[in-house]
Amino acid sequence: MRTPLVAGNWKMYKTNQEAVELVSGLASLLKGLGGVEVAVCPPFTSLADVSRLLEELGSSVALGAQNVYPRSEGAFTGEISPPMLKALGVKYVIVGHSERREILGEKDDFVAAKVRAVLDEGMTPILCVGETLEEREAGGALGKVEGQLDADLANVKLEEASALVVAYEPIWAIGTGKTATPADAQEMNSFIRRRLAAMFGESTVESVRVLYGGSVKPDNAAELMAMPDIDGALVGGASLKAEDFAAIVRAAS
Ligand code: PGA
Repeated sequence: MRTPLVAGNWKMYKTNQEAVELVSGLASLLKGLGGVEVAVCPPFTSLADVSRLLEELGSSVALGAQNVYPRSEGAFTGEISPPMLKALGVKYVIVGHSERREILGEKDDFVAAKVRAVLDEGMTPILCVGETLEEREAGGALGKVEGQLDADLANVKLEEASALVVAYEPIWAIGTGKTATPADAQEMNSFIRRRLAAMFGESTVESVRVLYGGSVKPDNAAELMAMPDIDGALVGGASLKAEDFAAIVRAAS
């Protein structure tokens, strides 16, 4: 059985003070909840304080980062390395989010290098894949996602694959209030698992968690999580309020 993972992607929200408040509220709401793994991915500026707070509270909430640069150190002004994240207790790193691909022009080879760098530091990448509305309407959704998986996971070794986390995030559903239907999300997540099985072997891929992301809210979380190939959620907007995020976590547990 795969333990579902619910990860909150705070994006470019929350000052450090606000981040600390959010995570203390969340830690108390989630205390004692079992059967689900929870992660929060604050902005870089709050990783240290959130990490310290989670430790102090003895919380089981894991720490994630939203991005990383695929080199361990060097003259890369403004960038953050995998060892810097690891030293703060970061467990998960979001890689290939569509906002970085679309707004910052990140290409698959760069995403693949980040996946490799995160694994090399002993952390777990949360690889985001997904299609635009035009691609879906033209019947190209599966092909787009297949291409992303093939390219972005090209440097992953067979024995590393079982620890991967992949998040299917249709771009048209992110921050729009439009959610994929549970059936559409299940179809894609099952396709992703089959593709991973072809790449890394059937037994390896049984333990890979494939999340859904895109306007996940307290009122649609349960029906999405009920699907056999949806192993949790990557939550943006609804992760910014402790009560909403906790309700989504409860739906997954
Ligand atoms: P959303 O964002 O929940 O606000 O749609 C999801 C994401 O981008 O990870």
